[in-house]
Amino acid sequence: MSISRKLLAAVLATGLAGAAQAAEDNIKIGLVLPLSGPFSTVGKQILDGVNLYVERYGDAIGDRKVELVIRDDTGIAPDISKRAAQELVVQEKVDVLAGFGFTPSAFAVAPLATSAKKPMIVMNAATSSITERSPYIVRTSSTMGQFTAPMAIWAANNGMKKVYTLVADYGPGHDSEAQFLKTFAQEGGTIVGSVRMPVQNPDFSPFLQRVKDEKPDAVFLFVPAGEQGVSFIKGYRERGLDKEGIQLISTGDITTEDQLSAVGDRALGLITSFTYSEAHDSKVNKEFTEAYYKKFPNQRPTFLTVGGYDGMHLIYEVLKKIGADASGDDFIAAAKGMAWESPRGPISIDPETRDIIQNVYIRKVEKVDGRLQNIEFDHVAAFKDPGKEK
Ligand code: PHB
Repeated sequence: MSISRKLLAAVLATGLAGAAQAAEDNIKIGLVLPLSGPFSTVGKQILDGVNLYVERYGDAIGDRKVELVIRDDTGIAPDISKRAAQELVVQEKVDVLAGFGFTPSAFAVAPLATSAKKPMIVMNAATSSITERSPYIVRTSSTMGQFTAPMAIWAANNGMKKVYTLVADYGPGHDSEAQFLKTFAQEGGTIVGSVRMPVQNPDFSPFLQRVKDEKPDAVFLFVPAGEQGVSFIKGYRERGLDKEGIQLISTGDITTEDQLSAVGDRALGLITSFTYSEAHDSKVNKEFTEAYYKKFPNQRPTFLTVGGYDGMHLIYEVLKKIGADASGDDFIAAAKGMAWESPRGPISIDPETRDIIQNVYIRKVEKVDGRLQNIEFDHVAAFKDPGKEK
């Protein structure tokens, strides 16, 4: 090799080593999200929230660049979630695990967070016990009990004496059913039927028919966000349950902003309980939605976008406080008790449970400026997960 070529090789090697060094210094956030399959909108909306946060607040924390390492776990596929998280920890050496659209995915990864001592930020999965599966878990989304208890109280206080519950047959559905049964009974109501429906590709017709035959005052529903809510609402109207006087009440998973246009006017008047509405009236939400529309002109933000956005806020603020090299234990200690104003309203991390404390709103679907919106008309302030009450 000529001297000049040797010199060039040396320069290149140094340059490459420098680049590798820089990449090693990056703060790596490993995201496990459902980005394909029937629930891909869940992952995409969380990721939109993550990317919006990075765009608004910069891709560096202190002098370290933030690098997102994204893995698709395809939906309800815990083995894939687990493999993805293992790869993120072992090969990619991520500093933080985040994402988790579905409960089975969060359950599958929790033991790994514990053994690797990695902070694990749950940005959607909503089964109460998730945060009990590892001391390294913090949740920035919600729990099913948080939505369901206020809905049961509202139903009992608004003339509904007999309710039929229909839920997806897995963690969040079971939590939602248990909470509705408990709270509605405490409020003096009667449950006239409770059925669990398959979570994958359900055909709602037989369930709607059973409810129609029973003639309760209301049917309480939980199905995961996405297209299922749209087909349930269509079936509810087409089979005439509304005309029989059976009110549909639900968690807000069925009236997410991205699905409202698909449901159309059939959604008008539906009552749901939830934490985020695009129409939430606050300065923080106004700024958030404006930044969102600029980045995603043809889309609408949802609770999933906000779960991802707030998850990033938590990661940024904790790492700013403790430094990027701090341990998983330091991370969790700093996250406990953190409080800030989210686009959904004031939120904080319960220092005892590492779960989120937040307002839960009762909303009605109305048309505002030609657009279907969840209009908040009542709320329970600073509500803790009732699923953890022993
Ligand atoms: C969950 O699996 O915990 C889950 C998924 C989607 C939702 C709510 C809960 O809309």
